[in-house]
Amino acid sequence: MTTATEPAQRIAALREQIREHNYRYHVLDDPSVSDAAYDALMRELRALEEARPELRTPDSPTQRVGAPPASHFAKVRHPQSMLSLGNAFDEADLYAWHERVLKILGADAQLAYVVEPKIDGLAVALTYRDGRFVQGATRGDGEVGEDVTANLRSVATVPLVLRERKDDYSASENQNSSTPIANLQLPTSLEVRGEVYMRIADFDALNERLAAANERIAANPRNAAAGSLRQKDPTVTAGRPLRFFAYAVGPFAGVTLRSQWETLNYLKTLGFPVNRDARRFTDFAEVIAYCAGWMTRRDSLEFEADGIVIKIDDFGQQAELGVVGRDPRWAIAYKFPAREAITRLLNIVVNVGRTGVVTPNAELEPVQLSGVVVRNASLHNEDYITQRDIRIGDRVIVKRSGDVIPYVIGPVVNQRNGNEQPYTFPTHCPACDTPLERVDGEAAWRCPNFGICPAQLVRRVEHFVSKGAMDIVGLGEKQVELFVTKGLIKDVADLYALRAEDFSELEGFGAKKISNLLDAIEQSKQRPLDRLIVGLGIRYVGSVAAQALANHFGDLDKLMAAGQAEIEVIEGLGPSVATSIVDFFQHESNRDVVAKLRAAGVNMSGGAPRARHSDQLEGQTFVLTGTLPNLTREQAAELIRSHGGKVTDSVTKKTNYVVAGASAGSKLAKAQTLDIPILDEAALLELAKPDQAPNDRPSASSTPQASDQDQGTGQLTFDLG
Ligand code: IVH
Repeated sequence: MTTATEPAQRIAALREQIREHNYRYHVLDDPSVSDAAYDALMRELRALEEARPELRTPDSPTQRVGAPPASHFAKVRHPQSMLSLGNAFDEADLYAWHERVLKILGADAQLAYVVEPKIDGLAVALTYRDGRFVQGATRGDGEVGEDVTANLRSVATVPLVLRERKDDYSASENQNSSTPIANLQLPTSLEVRGEVYMRIADFDALNERLAAANERIAANPRNAAAGSLRQKDPTVTAGRPLRFFAYAVGPFAGVTLRSQWETLNYLKTLGFPVNRDARRFTDFAEVIAYCAGWMTRRDSLEFEADGIVIKIDDFGQQAELGVVGRDPRWAIAYKFPAREAITRLLNIVVNVGRTGVVTPNAELEPVQLSGVVVRNASLHNEDYITQRDIRIGDRVIVKRSGDVIPYVIGPVVNQRNGNEQPYTFPTHCPACDTPLERVDGEAAWRCPNFGICPAQLVRRVEHFVSKGAMDIVGLGEKQVELFVTKGLIKDVADLYALRAEDFSELEGFGAKKISNLLDAIEQSKQRPLDRLIVGLGIRYVGSVAAQALANHFGDLDKLMAAGQAEIEVIEGLGPSVATSIVDFFQHESNRDVVAKLRAAGVNMSGGAPRARHSDQLEGQTFVLTGTLPNLTREQAAELIRSHGGKVTDSVTKKTNYVVAGASAGSKLAKAQTLDIPILDEAALLELAKPDQAPNDRPSASSTPQASDQDQGTGQLTFDLG
């Protein structure tokens, strides 16, 4: 090796290695070196190119960003139209599409289908000549797009040089591939089509960064991707977490491609990321089943998808089917129910919660969103409104997904007419006029008038009487508000001092109703300790934590006397719960309430040994999510515990089962990623059922135990046989 060729060879070798690492990382999702080792290679390459600028070439991995800011984007005419897709909204639409396909190709046509998630980003076309990336364009109107080559070069998952096939890749990586990879050669020219997008996590992080820098934040990952790709300065684009997925080819030469599946595999060998959830089927029933699975698993994707695309695999059949307007007959998009809608923000009102947190809420012009009419949506906090510049009167995007309550994403700025009013957050509590406080580092404003503010009190009483707490049936928001305004209730313990006379002025309260309500209040005194702990409304203490506390202390006095250290070591609890509990009982007003509850005869002890029906679920850990058809969450938890199981709040590798009901969200998605078995209500009941045949069951287990009713689980005592 002569000294003159040595750097050139080293540079070539480094580029080759870096490309291969990119391929392993972005395409195979299987990196073989650490980030540090990769960075070292890049550093070495940069240093060599710095020393020998004449060896620097535009396709070097160091040259992703370089072009000066553009004044405008040149127009690019697509050599072949970039099509759009027809939509299907239910299975009937899918079958109808399939019928149309069969009608053209003949009922006995041999069909294969490729099914891929429909990524919600923006379509681009990348042109490669002799293996090098030469041009990138947006879709535009499908005929003419914009030249964003310099910006696309900065997207790490867009290869600058096509990868020549090494023999490390085989069709076996695509388990259900029946199409061998025929093409090992590089194309002389090739247009690759795909989607530029942003992962949800990257989008959230980007928005945080933009908000911190006082810059406008994007409404959703798609807008963020589009905005980032259309930056005039490529260095700005380079700083955005954009990614690229390939899903099709445009015109190509020097290679033979016969089907969509073959194309996806070929694109992969060339170094393009393709969707790992793409599948090929030969049976339409399997297509339907795969799609049905995605309708509930949508939240497990790391990017936003707005549906599933189904394509006829064979290119010959595609050509025969042709295109109507912009929509090919050979493909269809099965759309997920929309999670976003646009409507008018009529007003912003603030609510005071039971811990004094003041939250802004949007009053909306009613709008239909994934099957329900939405009238109100969360605006989270003051910063959220200012960062997004949300104004009253704005057209706003509202989102509803998984188990989260609907929230406002942001305004549609280009639909403003000038009459929109910026919002000023109140400085005083709307209920008691106390100046609001904001703890440093927290987003929330609070009313510090704890224990006295009537709004907090109403919320606390509502919480105290709710199903998961003391379960006092018959006390609605209206009645509670009235008792509070009339001064009859100053804390939750005052409920137990209510008398029949106090109801006399209440509309709709006849003698029967009054006596039922007083009975319900009386009966609630016997609730188990954990329900009382829930009822106190301590921050971060929900039913799972309350159960752990009741089991550990067995007595409210002991819990009140406990220190931080003693609480935080209890399994499933942590420092923030412990701090919150200690804090709660430091307030004299809270200790007074407990004393009053005790004096009224409310049960303050027990808890630990619950009625145990069987050991059927011994050693099994469950997480509950979504709404079950019959059982409340508390009842389901109670059922699991009464058969020896444990209920926790978050899904981890240690979780044995996730019980999911309607509108289950991220917990369900997480369970799916971790391959944790998912049960519906019926499956849970089945699992908990003792092994013996019902008739053999010892009579004791079907005789309700004395404590059953007190625990509000009478209806669950398990006569399912
Ligand atoms: S195929 C028939 N496949 O959806 C050719 N498109 O509504 C059309 N998209 O403009 C493209 N993921 O931006 C295809 N796996 C996928 C896709 C996909 C997202 C977008 C693309 C296209 C739009 C059509």
